[in-house]
Amino acid sequence: MRHRLIVPAAAAASLLLAIPASAAEPTPGAPGVGDSYYPTAGNGGYHVSHYDLRLKYQPQTDKLEGTATLTATTTQALSRFNLDFALDVSEVTVNGKPTFFAKSGDHELEITPSAPLPEGKQITVVVRYSGTPSQVKIGGYSAWQRTPDGAVVANEPESAAWWFPSNDHPRDKATYDISIAVPDGLQTVSNGELKSQSSKLGWTRYNWRATKPQASYLTTLAIGKFDITTDKTADGLPVLNAYSKDLGDNLASAKASVERSAEIIEWESKIFGPYPFNAIGGYVPNVKTGYALETQTRPYYSPSGFANGANTSLVVHELAHQWFGDNVSVKNWRDIWVNEGFATYAQWLWSDKEGEGTTQELADYTYDGIPADNAFWKVKPGDPGAENQFHGAVYQRGAVALQALRNRVGDKTFFAILKGWQTDNKFGNGSVQDFVAYAEKVSGKQLKSLFDTWLFTDSKPSAAVAAKDGI
Ligand code: ARG
Ligand code: ZN
Repeated sequence: MRHRLIVPAAAAASLLLAIPASAAEPTPGAPGVGDSYYPTAGNGGYHVSHYDLRLKYQPQTDKLEGTATLTATTTQALSRFNLDFALDVSEVTVNGKPTFFAKSGDHELEITPSAPLPEGKQITVVVRYSGTPSQVKIGGYSAWQRTPDGAVVANEPESAAWWFPSNDHPRDKATYDISIAVPDGLQTVSNGELKSQSSKLGWTRYNWRATKPQASYLTTLAIGKFDITTDKTADGLPVLNAYSKDLGDNLASAKASVERSAEIIEWESKIFGPYPFNAIGGYVPNVKTGYALETQTRPYYSPSGFANGANTSLVVHELAHQWFGDNVSVKNWRDIWVNEGFATYAQWLWSDKEGEGTTQELADYTYDGIPADNAFWKVKPGDPGAENQFHGAVYQRGAVALQALRNRVGDKTFFAILKGWQTDNKFGNGSVQDFVAYAEKVSGKQLKSLFDTWLFTDSKPSAAVAAKDGI
């Protein structure tokens, strides 16, 4: 095969010319995407298009074993790149070649391919790993919750690092195949559709598939004893809801809420535009923690959300996030208002429809009811700070901002803005500033001072200023 190295002089010259003089030297990919709230979230230098996770979990010992196969494309010439991951890694290959890797910090996995990767190259990265995720702490905390009969992982802004290696930032969305084997007799819940399940040697393997771009923090997994209900919507979308068998007195109220998911999505589709995904549902694991999360296609609900009877408003909130948060995601975590302000406003629209208070009444109630010296008014919904990302102000004052916008531009334009924002940014990202610019474009109005008042002022807007915005 020696003759292959003999290249005619002319051809050799053209080969040399084919290498652009400016070809960048390979450099390490950044250990973060550049999000000021979470500097190590995500990584630079590549985009992931698909995650294939093949997992096995034993609840008795909390042992998770996995092989993750990531399909990615480099966005720069890379000498090295990072994945965000906290479990123990035994082997990494890149394009089939065993590769040097090292842990850095508490959730960075540095991968050094045997040869540098050029820009624009498709790569296949395989990571073999195992661990006891509930014992693995990042900043003293684990997002992996054990339950009496299994486990569940669902959290924001970070949850992936406890169960699969990823580019852990909503700017890099991908599709997912999640295959999980658990001891016979247990069920699993994840995103998208359950394509198949089969049992062998005492283990049942469930194969889940999510075919639309999905952020890593919206990717969820639960293992346990669940009652599962399935259905099809009028449009033929598969519905799958799951309830822990141990919800006790909360089971009936959880069902009375979550079983209405398809109906609520139909109502929201009329306001926000077509439902972006191709599966629907919700699930209620047996956890003690008290939050809900808009995990894609299948929100996660703590049982405590249903402790006072049905809570359709909560379901309306998490399902509104399927548009605001999941279809259009934050560009940076400081943009959290583009998720929470809108999901809260959806609850206000539901209240309006149910005759439990109009959106205007709820905006006035928020403004009038919270005194100026309350710390609530110190938080700027448009840039709340990482420590206040989920502060009530982002939600409630964030929704007041939308009522102010609606009052300024009128109903027709307001609802055109909501729908258009979804179509224009389908499966993408948008910042607060992008939304303001978009609302100005659609309405033809100057809106900077309105949004400054409601999103970017760290005090209660005066009565005179509020009155100008109809609040
Ligand atoms: N996006 C979620 C919601 O509003 C909030 C999750 C807050 N996370 C937490 N660990 N409390 O529905
Ligand atoms: Zn929310």
